[in-house]
Amino acid sequence: MALFMQHLKIYLDGAFVAEPDAKVSVFDHGLLYGDGVFEGIRFYNGRVFLLEEHLDRLYDSAKAILLTVPLDRDAMREAVLETCRQNGLRDGYIRLVITRGKGDLGLNPNKCSKPTIFIIAASIELYPEKYYTEGLRVNTVPTQRISPAALSPAIKSLNYLNNILAKIEGNLYGAQESIMLNQQGYVAECTADNLFVIKKGKVFTPHISDGALGGITRRLMFDLAVETGHELREANLTRYDLFVADELFATGTGAEVVPISEVDGRKIGPGRVGPVTEKFIAAFRHKTQNTGVPIY
Ligand SMILES: Cc1ncc(COP(=O)(O)O)c(C=O)c1O
Repeated sequence: MALFMQHLKIYLDGAFVAEPDAKVSVFDHGLLYGDGVFEGIRFYNGRVFLLEEHLDRLYDSAKAILLTVPLDRDAMREAVLETCRQNGLRDGYIRLVITRGKGDLGLNPNKCSKPTIFIIAASIELYPEKYYTEGLRVNTVPTQRISPAALSPAIKSLNYLNNILAKIEGNLYGAQESIMLNQQGYVAECTADNLFVIKKGKVFTPHISDGALGGITRRLMFDLAVETGHELREANLTRYDLFVADELFATGTGAEVVPISEVDGRKIGPGRVGPVTEKFIAAFRHKTQNTGVPIY
């Protein structure tokens, strides 16, 4: 009996198309120049998690690169929800991409008449559960986080080579994640996650101006800090602060809240998930299972 593979249905410029037919032009400036913005969003238990916060960041990123989004916010929200419905999913990951659109071979965005929008909703392969108890082994890497004066790391753009180079360097060290510093030597973030340091019960995270993306999960940690009774503030952090931390964890839509147990060969705290991180993980999981915009 032949196995019938159901293709994902992809939202592409207002229509739903089967994944093999979801194609963009080789002249699309998202592909030619990384000119565009995107969001990665999770849905849990039939609800899209922190959807409004993701839409806020999407429209802010687009505004920052002078990209006029051809869908208004209500239509975009509906397109995201409908993409989940079309695929019959209750748990998964959404990738929402807006490129500058098709242009010519020059980089002038004025030659691109219409942005391309596509939305993918799919199941996600999580970090194995053991990482949430054993923690990640990470390295700081030579590639610095790009300066906000060059390209603000607060823009979630399609231009990820800075992060990819850092990821490659981490791979070369055999690390599970890489930590990037900024040009002043302060800790910025991981390649696709924000970073948190716990010292004597207090929690610290790098300033956005130190080169961190304004992570949606990072923002949630400020609420969870109140719930769990821990002071959380932004700080300039150095590698030394990481080495002597009691606990470290990273946050991201994909990674969720994941402990870090080793940095540059230094064991962090207990060398596995610590008690404060455990509290944040539990509070985070409770939120993901019980809040969000209903899909159905
Ligand atoms: C560079 C970078 N930093 C941090 C994050 C974490 O942000 P969020 O919690 O919104 O997923 C991401 C992922 O989106 C990222 O790409």
